[in-house]
Amino acid sequence: MPLHQIMYISSATGAMTAQQCAGIAAASAVRNRAEDVTGLLLFNSRRFLQVLEGPKEAVERVYARIAKDGRHGALVKLRETAIETREFGAWDMAYDDAARPSDSLKDKVAALLEQAGPSTRAHFVGSAEMHRG
Ligand SMILES: Cc1cc2nc3c(=O)[nH]c(=O)nc-3n(C[C@H](O)[C@H](O)[C@H](O)COP(=O)(O)O)c2cc1C
Repeated sequence: MPLHQIMYISSATGAMTAQQCAGIAAASAVRNRAEDVTGLLLFNSRRFLQVLEGPKEAVERVYARIAKDGRHGALVKLRETAIETREFGAWDMAYDDAARPSDSLKDKVAALLEQAGPSTRAHFVGSAEMHRG
């Protein structure tokens, strides 16, 4: 099964704390692991950016499930592509206001945002911490 990657952005529909987001990420990590899906979930108190990587069918299934979740909306797929290796080996997440991302995560995020172009960077304009390191 070829490896697949989906990257999307979305907006929280209501107030969401970093703690609630951490809860989503923890539950997601368990479920995703069972499907061999890994990735990254970023949250900057209003918006999400998530990368899902794994077997194509599993990634599409997980994305379809996430897209129906009423806790966020206005999903925009930024990238959907076949990949040869996972860009984000382990599940992780970062906040602009809590648990600081590790340097290596920050580097990967910076690289990803660069690749994604100015509109994605603008999407995360509120989280300078992640951009500037
Ligand atoms: C921003 C965001 C990201 C999410 N990411 C995942 C994820 O990667 N994997 C996952 O299983 N659920 C994720 N969820 C939760 C799912 O949307 C859903 O609530 C969960 O999979 C339970 O689905 P079910 O109620 O259909 O069983 C995410 C939710 C949000 C709001």
